[in-house]
Amino acid sequence: MTAPKQTSPTDSGAPSLTVPKLLTGQKALVTGANSGIGKGVAIALGQAGADVVVNYVDGDEAANAVVDEIKQAGGRAYAHRADVSSEADVAAMFARMMQEFGTIDILVSNAGLQRDSAFHDMTLDKWNKVLGVNLTGQFLCAREAVREFLRRGVVASVSRAAGKIICMSSVHQEIPWGGHANYATSKGGIKLMMESMAQELAPNRIRVNAIAPGAIRTPINTAAWNTKAAYDQLMTLVPYGRIGEPEDIARAAVWLASDQSDYVVGTTLFVDGGMTLYPGFATGG
Ligand code: BGC
Repeated sequence: MTAPKQTSPTDSGAPSLTVPKLLTGQKALVTGANSGIGKGVAIALGQAGADVVVNYVDGDEAANAVVDEIKQAGGRAYAHRADVSSEADVAAMFARMMQEFGTIDILVSNAGLQRDSAFHDMTLDKWNKVLGVNLTGQFLCAREAVREFLRRGVVASVSRAAGKIICMSSVHQEIPWGGHANYATSKGGIKLMMESMAQELAPNRIRVNAIAPGAIRTPINTAAWNTKAAYDQLMTLVPYGRIGEPEDIARAAVWLASDQSDYVVGTTLFVDGGMTLYPGFATGG
């Protein structure tokens, strides 16, 4: 039997599920949390019981709306503007978090962007911007979080781990992506940064993992899903037959941040509807 395919660009048919209370009292920072995947993750961490810093760089109103949604669910939250590619901004963001929440238990390094270009036309600005935010930004935030995890160690009443870092990667840490060499390079870099950190820090009970989303309905890729033609074309790349929603990633993030995944170390969890399964080979080859 073939499962019904969702063909609408606006309704993926994804069921709404409740988020389990796995993170009560934990302190979380989500970067790039005023839209898209980061927004979904921040809200889900709040629903799971965490207090959340909602980082953003542009768009105060959207960030404040995420904060309000977390507060309505009963969690503490505030918005903090910082450019994750700036060492000074990141240091200030963590200093404030220590003041407001006292510590950090969970970092979701999500801030990321695309500046697409044919390779021969790619400017150094586009290259540096994408590497600066997507890769260096994750390095700067992870370094601050790790310093605090090492200082504080395990607090058994909070979590089995001294801290959890979730790096937001992409299917493009594996799938080469013409026209997007800067972006794919940044995600390939995240893979080995995450694995190297995980190896180095596991003895300190710090768990570092990544999520690799496929095509998720967010502002970063609107052109890939907002018309029927684009959506149908996209579905040729997604065996599961629907676009992903931010909540699909958010539920994975809650699990990876919780003690339910305590033995998961240095793994990339692909949440992509099968995009990495070479769907072109389903027939032929
Ligand atoms: C990109 C999206 C793209 C998806 C699948 C993501 O990492 O940001 O633009 O739709 O990968 O190709």
